[in-house]
Amino acid sequence: MPETTIVIPKPDDWHVHLRDGAMLRAVLPYTARSFVRAIVMPNLRPPVTTSKAVAAYRDQILALLPPGSGFTPLMTLYLTDATDADDLAQGHADGIVTAAKLYPANATTNAEHGVSDVKKIYPVLERMQKIGMPLLVHGETVGKDIDIFDREAVFIDRTLIPLRRDFPELKIVFEHITTEQAASYVAENGGKTLAATITPHHLHVNRNAMFAGGIRPHYYCLPVAKREQHRQALVKAATSGKPMFFLGTDTAPHADTAKESACGCAGIFCAPQALELYAQCFDDAGKIANFEIFASRNGPAFYGFPVNAEKVTLQKQTAPIEIAAPIETADGQCITPFVPPSPLMWKIV
Ligand code: DOR
Ligand code: ZN
Repeated sequence: MPETTIVIPKPDDWHVHLRDGAMLRAVLPYTARSFVRAIVMPNLRPPVTTSKAVAAYRDQILALLPPGSGFTPLMTLYLTDATDADDLAQGHADGIVTAAKLYPANATTNAEHGVSDVKKIYPVLERMQKIGMPLLVHGETVGKDIDIFDREAVFIDRTLIPLRRDFPELKIVFEHITTEQAASYVAENGGKTLAATITPHHLHVNRNAMFAGGIRPHYYCLPVAKREQHRQALVKAATSGKPMFFLGTDTAPHADTAKESACGCAGIFCAPQALELYAQCFDDAGKIANFEIFASRNGPAFYGFPVNAEKVTLQKQTAPIEIAAPIETADGQCITPFVPPSPLMWKIV
């Protein structure tokens, strides 16, 4: 009999966008409900580029948690060409900045202030390597000559491989991988210094979903979903039980007005049913027994944190569960959660 109930250590989300202001207030409860810790992205407007700004952002998040919430935001600093290595190292030593995020300039939402050439931050990377601070990468290379569906594969060749050669001890998380090339590169080279996060939406949809019967902006994110063969490679990697792959939802809320527009924003809001989405994918692959290692064990092991003591129970239902409804922010914006193309049978109980 296949498992229909699993009890696992409550997971962490190793990649979230919580935003700020009214949006933060609206989305935070969804992440705080399902996860004990979360790595919080720094691509606010303006981006969070100094330790002082990271501390202020963390305070803003903590102030919105209900008393007694066991949720811990783990903060990141947005690297720019001008990042001060001393400030970053001090923030890390003070326990404020867990990791630093590399957005190649203009690669994604709010990445205009990102790094124009990785060589410009070599002194910063040198310091991070020395102090054991993880580098989180948005792994896409943008350029006039690069097709959007090839950006991730080009990043591996032009940036990641040289970076790892120059900083062999630097801990790198290749965030939200979307291709067969990334999955096999990380499977072959991952370990103490390299790992990858995989989102629930990239496990559920391929690029056709964006164009099914018309243009569907709520399936648009960056890196953009790729062909079916890539989705299958991601499922294989995530469900493999290998230590270098772990959970990171990349939940990235935008107001519907910003998504459903002539130039819609990239980002998928998957926080409300993230665990259910992942569990469904593991079950569909016949690998539910490997869900715990992906969701609860590999991330803490890579980052050097203990596995959470609290448990969560997921149960397979006999009928599909209801898909999360759109939510509203205090300033009247509507945010539509990710709707998987096929039914969800797993539920947190
Ligand atoms: O789709 C995305 N949305 N990808 C990113 O890298 C950023 C994110 C956002 O902030 O909206
Ligand atoms: Zn992200």
